Amino acid sequence: MFDAEKIQKDVEDFTKKAKETTSLIELDNIRKVLFGDKGIITLASKMIGKLAPEERAGAGKVLSSVRATFNPVFEEVKEKLESVELKKQIASEKVDVTVESGDSSVASLSERLNSTLGARHPIQVLQEDVANFFQSIGWQIASGPEVEAEWYNFDALNFGPDHPARQMQDTFYGEQLNTVLRTHTSPVQARSLIDCGVPLYIACPGKVFRTDELDSTHTPVFHQCEGLAIDKGLTMANLKGTLDAFFKAMFGDSAKARLRPSYFPFTEPSAEMDVWFEHKKGGAGWIELGGCGMVHPNVLRSCGIDPEVYSGFAFGMGLERTLMLRHDIQDMHDIVEGDIRFSKQYGLES
Ligand code: PHE
Repeated sequence: MFDAEKIQKDVEDFTKKAKETTSLIELDNIRKVLFGDKGIITLASKMIGKLAPEERAGAGKVLSSVRATFNPVFEEVKEKLESVELKKQIASEKVDVTVESGDSSVASLSERLNSTLGARHPIQVLQEDVANFFQSIGWQIASGPEVEAEWYNFDALNFGPDHPARQMQDTFYGEQLNTVLRTHTSPVQARSLIDCGVPLYIACPGKVFRTDELDSTHTPVFHQCEGLAIDKGLTMANLKGTLDAFFKAMFGDSAKARLRPSYFPFTEPSAEMDVWFEHKKGGAGWIELGGCGMVHPNVLRSCGIDPEVYSGFAFGMGLERTLMLRHDIQDMHDIVEGDIRFSKQYGLES
């Protein structure tokens, strides 16, 4: 039997209860009493089909009006109670970041999580050491892009298009025409000369790329530090003196530089540079660290500088090599893999 008055009265009562409740569970129970499977409204709507056709429209109106009474109240109360719950939850999960780290509960938490402090990668630390040395003698630190224009990587450095020396470096060519992953840090020489002009004293530690397989002494991604000094009247003696001072800073007072004749298209004369290195464990010897020379007049001309007035020197050295030497590291894999146990051993010094 469809009793409109009773339905309206019930819904009014439950709407009042819904307004007063302070519990989401109770609110949901009220909703079920009205709209659950056996709820008052649910049963009443099922009954409509059984009414005489002329009564159906009136009954339908009653149901939609009671829905319009209850639903907005339900939504409003639900929203209010949910926000209260959320606030309670946030308050209960609050972390006191001002607790001192010596606090035993914090220590035991970190122990349980087996948390450990990270370490900086030793190559990064070395790059900063190198930069600090050059800044300490008044040079500036320069940088350039790793995806480099072929012109800067080769042409500006006096490698002609068919220069056999292009083959000396196993190059990754970019998909974009005339780009390479820079094979050395020397393109920064040309960039800096063009951007800053002369006189110029710069060092540039950075990442370089060659198509080598990773093995115990090679890696396709490695690091170099470039040095460039251009001024009036610089000679090879200035190059040798700078390298001596740099090697002493890197490897200790007994270290010194030795130059052996070599060839690079962008320096003339060119040399390989060796360092005299004394092992902590005993024993000493000359170890090759990179290339150097007096900047070729064609490089200065490419960068708009008159080689009749200015001259200077450049050098480039491998940083992985330096790190291996300094710490007696035997295998390149250790440097490349980024294992925290390795980084912690050498990456915490400064
Ligand atoms: N760019 C050269 C290399 O990667 C090293 C170098 C730098 C040589 C500067 C001379 C002058 O092999």
